[in-house]
Amino acid sequence: MSDHTQPEAQILDHDCDGIREYDNALPGWWTMIFWATIIFSLFYPVYYHWGVGASVHEEYEADVALAAEEQIARLGPITPDNATIVALSIDAKKVLVGRAMFRTNCAVCHGADGGGLVGPNLCDGVYINIKSPEDIYKVVRDGVVAKGMPAWSVRYNDTQLTLLAAYVASLRGTTPAAPKAPQGTNEPPPWSTFGTTAAGGGAKTD
Ligand code: HEC
Repeated sequence: MSDHTQPEAQILDHDCDGIREYDNALPGWWTMIFWATIIFSLFYPVYYHWGVGASVHEEYEADVALAAEEQIARLGPITPDNATIVALSIDAKKVLVGRAMFRTNCAVCHGADGGGLVGPNLCDGVYINIKSPEDIYKVVRDGVVAKGMPAWSVRYNDTQLTLLAAYVASLRGTTPAAPKAPQGTNEPPPWSTFGTTAAGGGAKTD
């Protein structure tokens, strides 16, 4: 045990069942750490909350997307058929993989929440080129180049294109902040009617 009988040590008057307390100054190293945490806490929100630093929430979502991507890589190639796309579109973790690609490449024209900018609103259930989940995959793969929608097969492989299609499918029925008026005349039945029993996707929503 260390020596508590420093000259400045004072024993407080207060006594509880014979237990007495010292009233010593806090050690210098302790006070320094205390002030350091306060100074750190001033910079933390500036950088991570308002600034460029990724928030805990964003880091978590990026990690989940990465884990889902690894899981998908282990599954091998997935077939971009209706049932697989629908199954992936209701799988909360796998949808995050498509969302990450969407935010990077598609948000400029379709809005970060899919509400539409130059490109059409992808949330309203009304489509120009789409009658089934497979059509989403085809449009994303081949684009509608003459109308300003690029072909994404140059950048993404089939699995990634399928995940993008699944994310776009999941946007249907969501409420974007500034929805663009519906374009097109196709109003396909709910995606769930195209089946969810997929070979590669799995319909787990854990
Ligand atoms: C440069 C702008 C631009 C970018 C970037 C872009 N799109 Fe598009 N997109 C469009 C336009 C314009 C259309 C409408 C095409 C038409 O009129 O047939 C469209 C149509 C679509 C459609 C069909 C909608 C419908 O109603 O038929 C889907 C799905 C789609 N885009 C998904 C995506 C995805 C996914 C990405 C990112 C990988 C993406 N787009 C990136 C401009 C863009």
